[in-house]
Amino acid sequence: MAPEHLDAFRNIIGKVFVFTDRGICKQYGRDETEDLVFPPHVVLKPGSTEEVAAIMKYCNKAGIPVTPIGGRTGLSGGALSVYGGVGLAMERFNRILNIDEQNLQATVEPGVITQVFQEAVIAKGLYYPPDPSSKGSCFIGGNLAENSGGPRAVKYGVTKDYVLNLEVVMPNGDTFWTGANVLKNATGYNLTQLLVGSEGTLGIITKVVFRLQPYPAHQLLMLVPFFSAEKACEAVSATFRTGIVPSAMEFMERDAIDWTLRFVEGIHIPVKDQHMAHLLVEVDGNNREVLLKECEKITEVMMACGGDEVLFADNPTQKDQLWRMRSRVGEAVKAHSIYKEEDTVVPRYQLPKLLKGVKEIGEKYGFRSVCYGHAGDGNLHVNIIKGKLTDEQWNGSVTLGIREIFELTVGLGGTLSGEHGIGYVQRPYMNIAFNNAQIHLMKGIKKVFDPKGILNPGKIFPCESDT
Ligand code: LAC
Ligand code: ZN
Repeated sequence: MAPEHLDAFRNIIGKVFVFTDRGICKQYGRDETEDLVFPPHVVLKPGSTEEVAAIMKYCNKAGIPVTPIGGRTGLSGGALSVYGGVGLAMERFNRILNIDEQNLQATVEPGVITQVFQEAVIAKGLYYPPDPSSKGSCFIGGNLAENSGGPRAVKYGVTKDYVLNLEVVMPNGDTFWTGANVLKNATGYNLTQLLVGSEGTLGIITKVVFRLQPYPAHQLLMLVPFFSAEKACEAVSATFRTGIVPSAMEFMERDAIDWTLRFVEGIHIPVKDQHMAHLLVEVDGNNREVLLKECEKITEVMMACGGDEVLFADNPTQKDQLWRMRSRVGEAVKAHSIYKEEDTVVPRYQLPKLLKGVKEIGEKYGFRSVCYGHAGDGNLHVNIIKGKLTDEQWNGSVTLGIREIFELTVGLGGTLSGEHGIGYVQRPYMNIAFNNAQIHLMKGIKKVFDPKGILNPGKIFPCESDT
């Protein structure tokens, strides 16, 4: 990067927050997506909205790409600096500015770690339900960018459902709040929700106002084994047809469980040889008796769908073990092999067909997959394992298979991503979910916000050669 640009950045944020060291740039050029590395030319760590605005204004004028970077736990490559330029690391924006107990709202900066925020509101008896597995290191800003979900989304919704208002810096440096700190808002276009899930391509979020919930008094958790993974998927929609809304309904295939139990120490869950999949089901609320009845009813449904003996987590240690087992599947798979992660989502009744289809496609194209995820949302994480495949197969036939998985997903009424975003890696498949008119409209929106295309270029939109 030209020395005059670096000098300009040093003037704006101070030289100790400007990093050109190759090792550091490389570190900020990775997230959790496959084994991809796209380092920025310089990492900037601004400390205020004004500094972000000054950086954006400068980069916009000079035509320098800017990629916002959070906790680097993303799974679609949204924070990778694919065109180099500035990596805008938001980690100094790490303050919880206010927890408003009168209105059940909180104002937070985007560099706050999700779990830190969750725990701060729990200390006040409040609940922020979005709960990505990476909560111990992901940032609120990344959750906003990708519209993260997690297990509680099935009852409580995803990140967007908690966002009331955002402070945003535009690529030209203009700064504004997108809405108001109110629970209802029918005033003009909904810029707030347009920004959520926009993967850092429209503006830089510098503050967020969330709404919160009261924390439920009880959470009951049970693990249900199945002899067939498809049967487990069938039990999902059957449960919802009873009228009960579990606060989590998670699916794990056998391999996901085995690999996680080998990878994470201290989890003791009995798994019979014949069990091919498990559902982890949670109900929550304030009346324990009601919840126990719900568990009974759910158990009946599970049994009718071929479930085996249910394990009730009756103490905090067991609950913690079950949740640890579930939340660390992704890491366990990654430790096992390089993998491509597809974040498929279908209407939940279609889940058995999706799972069956994914396995058939894997056989056809010669790859193994490990599936798990938020079954209650119809959101299946399909992890395609590289194992002993050659690079040629990995970048050739496997991508054809992935295209077929997405065609199946869309054919079942679903779409490409439930909670990980399109980012860099899923772009080639966007034309399966959207036609030219829809993509054109989205590109038009991008142009209004970012006419020079400096903000997180190379994301969301299919490469020209793919369309
Ligand atoms: C999970 C992440 C990968 O569900 O979304 O564990
Ligand atoms: Zn997930």
